[in-house]
Order: sequence, then C-alpha cells, then structure tokens
Amino acid sequence: MNTPVCGPLPADVQRHLATARLGRRMYFHPDVTSTNDIALDLARHGEPEGTVVIADHQRAGRGRRGRVWSSPPQRNLMLSMILRPGSDARGALPVTLVSAMSISVVLSKLLDIDVRVKWPNDVVCERGKIAGILAESSVSGSGLAFVVVGTGINVNARAEDLPAAPAYPAASCFTLTGSEWDRAKIAADVLGTIEAYYDRFLRDGFATLRGAYEARLAHLGRRVAFEQQGRQADGVVLGVAGDGALRVESSGGGETLLYGESIEVLP
Ligand code: BTN
Repeated sequence: MNTPVCGPLPADVQRHLATARLGRRMYFHPDVTSTNDIALDLARHGEPEGTVVIADHQRAGRGRRGRVWSSPPQRNLMLSMILRPGSDARGALPVTLVSAMSISVVLSKLLDIDVRVKWPNDVVCERGKIAGILAESSVSGSGLAFVVVGTGINVNARAEDLPAAPAYPAASCFTLTGSEWDRAKIAADVLGTIEAYYDRFLRDGFATLRGAYEARLAHLGRRVAFEQQGRQADGVVLGVAGDGALRVESSGGGETLLYGESIEVLP
C-alpha cells in the first residue's frame, strides 16, 4: 500500500512563510530514511542556502551522538535546511545554537509556556524535551562548505508515541496542551525566526546574540557533568562565549569552554 501523502506540504508551509531564503526552495517526502541524508546530498550537488527538505515520516531518523530519532508518521515536524554560513568551521556550532534558540522562541510564544534551550541543541520545557537539532557539516579544503541543520519537533505526538525514558522525559505540543497544532504554520514560524537570527549572526557574529541565547538557556548556574578528553569532570554553567562554547566554572578550578561535549545536569 502506498503511504498517503499528508504533509506538511511545501505549499502549506509557503502560504505562511515570511522569509527571503529559508524554505523558498522546498522538497517534501512522505517517507525517507532521514531528511538530513537528502539535504546533505542536495548540498553536495550545489543546492543553494535556504533549501529545506521536509518529511512526513523517517525510517532512520538520527539524533546527536548516534542516537535514534523516532517519530510516528504524520504527527511531528521533521525538516532539514541547507545553510552556507561561510568558511569558518566554528560556524556549525553557532548555527545550531541560533536554530535551537529560534525554536524555543517560537514554541514559547505558541504554547504560552517557558521553553528553553539545553546547550547546545535540545529544546526543553519543564515536562521534557520538545525538539532536537542535528547539525551535520561538510568541510572542504578552505573550511566549512555547508551545514545541514536537521530539526525534529514533537508537534502532535501522543504520550504513547514518545520515548519512555524517565531520566530524559519527552513532551509534544499536543501532550502539553491537549490540542492539535498546524505543522505547516509551525514550520513557517520556525523558518522565519531562524532566518532573522541567522542573518544577524552572519552580519554581526554570534557574540551579538549571546545575551539573547543566555536569556533562553536552561540550567544557567546549575552544576553539570561532562566528559572532556576522556575524563569525567563537573562544574557550574556560567553562560556561553562569543563563539557559542559553553562556559563552565570547573570544580577543579578555572573556566572551561565546551564545544561538542554533552552535558548532564546534576541534582
Ligand atoms: C537530537 O536531539 O539528538 C537531534 C534530533 C534531530 C532530529 C531531526 S528530525 C529531522 C532531521 N533528520 C534526522 O535524521 N535528524 C534530524
């Protein structure tokens, strides 16, 4: 049986879209391995900045650190966008932070609750993680060639659709409010907000967005554990640096900057 074409279709998203570049070219797939796979392939073949790949279902959705990102068909938002922020290889981290911050802004407004960012890429509220970002980049001889920013947002997932991991609870717009939400409208709002912050990042650098990011940062002032160069360490979150690194006051003394590491919040 063929998978029914459901959406969010490009025309539905574009009806709400107020961007100059992001989402102006858009590919929709009812069923794919991963939207990041499709976007990476398109980017390698020269697809321009702003192209978006959107899917109704992923058979092999992935998250950071080799984790699986699973989502029932037709309920959530899975989209990947191609960005070409220039050759500075560190650009991939600020782009992740800009995207996570934008999603937290959109979901906070939409749901009228406090939605924050767990550095670097999780979008969380009191009841759990609502969205995640997987940025995958390609480096060429002279630096960063492009970044594919893959975004998964739990929109209409029911409680039974969400992974049952009590230590890492998950939530969706539906489980938080009891209402169904328009995925196309959310996609357009997310793309619009990302474009606005991303353009500021391109123009003025991430340092100028630092305050805005820190205002949305979960766990500021909290003790976190992390692994660095194969060793377990812990410290207190101070904020982010001008290049997007997490600043931690290390319990061993001094300030540590984290770039790719995952943090675990300690009780
Ligand atoms: C994470 O929380 O670790 C990141 C999850 C990212 C999931 C999205 S869904 C769209 C895109 N395609 C993928 O395979 N992953 C990202």
